Amino acid sequence: MTTRIVPAVGDVDAARSVTTLLSQLPDAEPAAPVTDSTQLIDTLARLAGESLDDLPEVVLVHERIGPVPALELIREVSLRFPAIGVVLITADVTPGLFSSAMESGARGVVTLPLSYEELANRVQSAAQWSVGVRRHLTTGADVFTGPGGTVVTVSGAKGGVGATVTAVQIALAAQTSGRNVALVDLDLQTGDIGSYLDVQFRRSIVDLSTINDISPRVLSDAVFSHGTGLALLLAPNEGESAEEVSDRSARQIVSALRSRYEVVVIDCGSQLQGASAAAIEMADTALLVTTPDVIAVRGAKRVVRMWERLQIRKAEDTVTLVNRFIRSTEIQPQLIEKITGTTTANTAVPANFKELQAVVDAGRLHELDSKSTVKQALWALAGELGIVKVPEKAEKNGAKSIAKFKNDRGSIGRRRDRGGDSRNRQTTQGAS
Ligand SMILES: Nc1ncnc2c1ncn2[C@@H]1O[C@H](COP(=O)(O)OP(=O)(O)OP(=O)(O)O)[C@@H](O)[C@H]1O
Ligand SMILES: [Mg+2]
Repeated sequence: MTTRIVPAVGDVDAARSVTTLLSQLPDAEPAAPVTDSTQLIDTLARLAGESLDDLPEVVLVHERIGPVPALELIREVSLRFPAIGVVLITADVTPGLFSSAMESGARGVVTLPLSYEELANRVQSAAQWSVGVRRHLTTGADVFTGPGGTVVTVSGAKGGVGATVTAVQIALAAQTSGRNVALVDLDLQTGDIGSYLDVQFRRSIVDLSTINDISPRVLSDAVFSHGTGLALLLAPNEGESAEEVSDRSARQIVSALRSRYEVVVIDCGSQLQGASAAAIEMADTALLVTTPDVIAVRGAKRVVRMWERLQIRKAEDTVTLVNRFIRSTEIQPQLIEKITGTTTANTAVPANFKELQAVVDAGRLHELDSKSTVKQALWALAGELGIVKVPEKAEKNGAKSIAKFKNDRGSIGRRRDRGGDSRNRQTTQGAS
């Protein structure tokens, strides 16, 4: 392992001798000395701003640094950059100085005149300490440790059938029940989740598309924390940048989200692209929204066949939701099931423009009244899909059976060769 070292030495001669010795240390990468306390803090702050991983493992502080006195500087560095091992270089060999240095946060003291052995020794132990702290910090907060959440994609049989309203409301249902939920707009060119939820945010899923290793920090930078508690990953404002999200990056983004959130709801819109295809393929549940009219149902059939041809998803692994349902229609859910070969959700969502109009126009779909029949149906659907948390008491009383598909992944969402994911899925659902 290479140890990155930043020496802070004001005196030119002292700097030269430090640099000479450091250059002889094996596996060391010494930076050019910074000559005062301001420069040191600025350098570290700049590196930390890029990435915490860019910070050096070790900082050497010479006793005659200024304008901030050495011990004070050490205190500041160790408070602001706790994963750096700071070593004091001093001519004072008294125990009093040693304990003051330690109290200030130094990890070691090297005495003047410098000896190679002592310097190597102190630098090495400060570096080891720094690496240990970083590992600890990483496993605590910077690594995905979740068991793997449930992914639900929502696609439209054609434009305007209600995919986005559905995605938003089932995400809200899951969130309100106590789940930790991400809502993703993968309708990359025409996504409007931001408009429905009154959000303007310059970051989008495109920001994640070029990153190979999506850390929790990177993910949380791209996500908007909505007042409802939902974590939103929005579509880009410029539709043309949709092209930047490849199927490969979509796969990585969905995996990262799944490790971080219990439920990930993805609005895939009605246009199939590489990214949405990847998400639909990975999903535990792929919902296809249609309305009960000939054109939309034809659209649904076309989509299902296309998914099959492209080996994205089998018809029997797809759940169709009938939205804007009216009892009098001739096109009943059973007929749709027959035509498409999919499973139709038990819940059909009634048509009720009046209920929705005001909140939709105001961009406040999250404030849809609880008495709304559309909301009630969509929240029931969330229960049917097994993404809401059922209170333990209710579960004992048999509420488990609400989740129609919960123990029946064969009919929906059972993906080919998902390997370890099936274990994860059960963990998540087991808690529901
Ligand atoms: N059950 C319903 N009753 C009445 N109106 C509805 C219902 N569901 C959705 N709508 C309305 O239909 C319109 C389209 O809904 P939505 O944006 O969710 O569709 P979409 O499939 O996402 O469309 P797009 O193809 O533009 O993404 C909206 O004005 C919405 O308020
Ligand atoms: Mg939409």
